[in-house]
Amino acid sequence: MHTSVLLDECIEYLNLKDDSIIVDCTLGYGGHSSEILKKISNGYLYAFDQDSDAIKYSMDRLGKISKNYEIIRSNFVNIKEELSKRNIIADGILYDLGVSSPQLDQDDRGFSFHKDAILDMRMDRKQRLSAYEVVNNYPLDKLVCILKEYGEEKYAYAIASCIVKSRPINTTLELVEVIKKSVPEKYKRGKHPARKTFQAIRIEVNDEINVFKKSLYDALDLLKIGGRICVITFHSLEDKACKEIFKSVSDIPNELKDMPVIPDKYLPKYKMVKTIKPSKEEIEKNNRARSAKLRIIERVR
Ligand SMILES: C[S@@+](CC[C@H](N)C(=O)[O-])C[C@H]1O[C@@H](n2cnc3c(N)ncnc32)[C@H](O)[C@@H]1O
Repeated sequence: MHTSVLLDECIEYLNLKDDSIIVDCTLGYGGHSSEILKKISNGYLYAFDQDSDAIKYSMDRLGKISKNYEIIRSNFVNIKEELSKRNIIADGILYDLGVSSPQLDQDDRGFSFHKDAILDMRMDRKQRLSAYEVVNNYPLDKLVCILKEYGEEKYAYAIASCIVKSRPINTTLELVEVIKKSVPEKYKRGKHPARKTFQAIRIEVNDEINVFKKSLYDALDLLKIGGRICVITFHSLEDKACKEIFKSVSDIPNELKDMPVIPDKYLPKYKMVKTIKPSKEEIEKNNRARSAKLRIIERVR
């Protein structure tokens, strides 16, 4: 069984009640969803994923707990359309972003820089754009931008130039070799030198940051008063996006801050509840938790 990150904290801060309506935007292998389902015996869970393997697995896992759930096979960017179709507003919404450990471990998905596979990295295997296309067909300047922006990779130019010169690159381990050739020796002594490039390509392939931002804005509108959104991020770009959106909807505008009494209509609809990092014990047990952060926001009016 794969371990879900910050599970107890999510369950606590979602404020689950027996009849809560909860949306899990990232079902994965159902770790969070099963714990949620156990606590909402008269409520309902809607769970999104775009990965057929994850859905197949979780369908079984959730079915053993309750019938009160529906799996929505869709990108969570469609949260507004999907929930509107069902006439739903939620008591709680959860995002546990990124790829799951089974996706990373599966040999044929191409997410891992430790395993040889075709360059793929699509969470939704029906989509057209794959890592192969990004690595082999993107122009140099676009590759440099992606590595800088999505990977925060300081050797972006060197790596991108070497990629362009080494085309065609067919597999993940071929790409790793190209990256190793492009960076200084000292860079190879720290964390894996392909880590940031792989992150950047994965974000580009799945358009992860744009999709998350759009979905989160929509999710804020789909919350009941008193409802909460919990977001678990795994790298600084996702976390920055989440923090900025939460701040923008929970802050009093600067020009109003000095007013002795702020009229109700200008008061923010949301309040930030807490930001939580995993405990040392959780990080020791589950290495994936080391870079995780949970942010919680509540709709107050
Ligand atoms: C980190 S895993 C979730 C793990 C899950 N919380 C658990 O405890 O088992 C993230 C999951 O979200 C899915 N996912 C990521 N981005 C998505 C998106 N934009 N739309 C739908 N599913 C997405 C991935 O396919 C993956 O299965």
